[in-house]
Amino acid sequence: THKKLRISEAFSSQLGANVTVQGWVRSARAQKVNVFLHVNDGSSLQSLQVVAGAELNDPLLTFGSAVEVSGILQESPHEKQPLELQADSIRVIGECDPVDFPFKVKKRHGLEYIRQFPHLRCRTNAFSSLLRIRSEATSAIHSYFKDNGFVQIHTPIITSNDCEGAGELFQVEPAGADEHFFSVPAFLTVSGQLHLEATAGAFSKVYTFGPTFRAENSQSRRHLAEFYMVEAEISFTQSMEDLTKVMEDMFRSATEHVLARCVEDVDLFHRHVTPGHRETVDSMLKKSFPVITYTEAVDILTRSSEQFAFPSDWGCDLKTEHEKYLVKHCGNVPVFVTDYPYDLKPFYARDNQDGPRHTAAAVDLLVPGVGELCGGSLREERLSVLRARLEQLGLEDAYSWYLDLRRFGSAPHGGFGLGFERYLQCLLGVDNIKDVIPFPRFSRSCLL
Ligand code: 4AD
Ligand code: MG
Repeated sequence: THKKLRISEAFSSQLGANVTVQGWVRSARAQKVNVFLHVNDGSSLQSLQVVAGAELNDPLLTFGSAVEVSGILQESPHEKQPLELQADSIRVIGECDPVDFPFKVKKRHGLEYIRQFPHLRCRTNAFSSLLRIRSEATSAIHSYFKDNGFVQIHTPIITSNDCEGAGELFQVEPAGADEHFFSVPAFLTVSGQLHLEATAGAFSKVYTFGPTFRAENSQSRRHLAEFYMVEAEISFTQSMEDLTKVMEDMFRSATEHVLARCVEDVDLFHRHVTPGHRETVDSMLKKSFPVITYTEAVDILTRSSEQFAFPSDWGCDLKTEHEKYLVKHCGNVPVFVTDYPYDLKPFYARDNQDGPRHTAAAVDLLVPGVGELCGGSLREERLSVLRARLEQLGLEDAYSWYLDLRRFGSAPHGGFGLGFERYLQCLLGVDNIKDVIPFPRFSRSCLL
C-alpha cells in the first residue's frame, strides 16, 4: 500500500505517508547503523534523503545507479530539507559502475567537461536544472502568446524557399535519390516567417516556435546548425513600435515567469555556474529597452573604432564585437537597433524610401553577453515595391505566391524571430550555445 510519487510530490506530502519513489542515486553513504542515500528523479533539483537500516545496504547502491525505494516519510533532522524517507525496502533497478561513470559523487563538473557526454549530462545537477528551465521557458513563451491573442501555426520544416536568402540551406532528399522527391529542390527551413506572413493575412496575430536549420560553418559560441526559433507576425502594424513592444513584452513576461517558477534551478546557475549573472538579469528588467537607429549605432562605434577587429563603417553589418559594445554602451541592458541599410536586409524588409543612406524598417534586439537575440522587420506590403525588388533579384517567379499576399487584401504587417537558445544564454549567463540545448548540432558534430 505504498503510493508511487514523484520526488517533488513527496516533498509536499504528509509526514507518515507510505510512499515509493524511483530515481537515480546522487550519493550513498553507509555507516554502522544506517545507510544514507540521496535519490533524484529529475522532478526537481532537490534530491530526497533516504535513511535505511544497515541491513538494507547493498554494494550496488552506488552513485548513478537506478533505484526504487519504499518507506515512510518522516521529519528530517536537517534544516535544509523538510522531510526524509525512512526506507523499508530498497531495490537496485540498474547498476552503475562508479569507476567508469564519467561524473563523480559530490563534484561540481564544469559545463565544458559535461558537454563531452551529451547522452549522460542530464544526470548532472547543472544540466538537469538547465533542461527544466528550458522546458518552463518554452511554456512561458506559449503562455505569453496565448494570453495575447496569437494563433499558433505549425509552419513546415521542409520547404522550397530560402527565406533569408543567405544560401545556408540543408537540402532534403531521400537517401540515394537521383531525382527530386518533391519535383523541386527542398530544404530544411531557415525560418517560418513567410508561412507566418501567409497566415497573418487571416488571423492578424500568429506565432510559431519550432526548430530551424542553418548550414553555417561557424564554430562560434552563438551559432548552431539546428536551433529553436520563436517567430511572431502581426498584421495592421502602424510603426516599428508595434513590433518592439511585442518583443519587449514577450522577453519580460517569459523571464519573469521563469524566475518565479524555477527559483531553485535558476539559483543554482546564478550562484554556482555563472556567479554574478543575477544582477545583469535584474537590471535588464528594470527599465524599458532603449532604441537607437543603426546610423546612431555606427556613430557610437566609430568613436571607438580602434577597439574593434572589424570595420564599423555605415553599410557594414554589425559584428558580435560591435553588438556587445553597443549593449555595454547603453548600460548593459537589451537595446533595439532599427533602420538598417537596405542592401543588408532580405527582400521582404520594408523600404524606408529615404536616402542617400538608404534604409529598411528592420530591427534587431541586442542583449548582454550574447549580442543579437532577435531579428525582425516591417514587411514590404506594397505590391509594386515588392515586385520591383523581387524582379531585381530574379525571384519574381519563385515568389509569385508571396506577391499574391500583396494582391489579395494586403495589410501593413511585421514580425520577428527570437533565437531560443540565445535567450537561454542571456537568462542564465551561459557562454556557449552548445550548453543550452539537449543535443547540439554544429558543423563536424552530429553525435547521437
Ligand atoms: O535574424 P534572423 O536570421 O531572422 C530571421 O530568420 C527572420 N526571418 C525572423 C523573422 O522575422 N520571423 O534569425 C532570428 C534569430 C537571430 O536573431 C538569432 O537569435 C537566432 O535567430 N539565430 C540563431 N541561433 C542559433 N544558431 C544560429 N545559427 C542562428 N541563426 C539565427
Ligand atoms: Mg539577424
